[in-house]
Amino acid sequence: MKRKAFLFMMVMMTSAGMAVAADATGLWNQHCASCHGKDGTGNTTMGKKNGVKDYTDAKVQAAFSDGEAAKAIKEGVKENGKDKMKPFGEKLSDADIKALVAYIRSFKK
Ligand code: HEC
Repeated sequence: MKRKAFLFMMVMMTSAGMAVAADATGLWNQHCASCHGKDGTGNTTMGKKNGVKDYTDAKVQAAFSDGEAAKAIKEGVKENGKDKMKPFGEKLSDADIKALVAYIRSFKK
């Protein structure tokens, strides 16, 4: 039991360390693409289930400011008290979040 907990901690620490060093593409593919898709369209099983929007659509992009996007990444997105997107504030630094917002903007066609 103790050994498992130790291993779990090591994995958590390693992945946290990697997140700090990774670029926006790496962060996106690691944390976000499972729902939002590598290409930002949200055309994934998880994305469809959760109603993720298509971030290549200029109208969708115009619906949120950079500040709102950063807040959503930090604090998560809730609907009816349930997490639709969990908060990433503890996993990602402010610099990571800023890089991800810029990355999301780059999906716009
Ligand atoms: C479990 C699935 C899931 C994961 C993982 C996920 N999201 Fe989301 N995200 C959602 C859903 C659902 C919404 C709400 C619908 C929408 O706006 O597309 C959302 C909304 C957003 C929004 C829009 C907020 C707004 O104000 O309209 C941004 C920006 C965003 N996510 C960025 C990210 C980033 C960056 C990551 C990775 C760090 C991420 N998401 C990971 C499901 C997810």
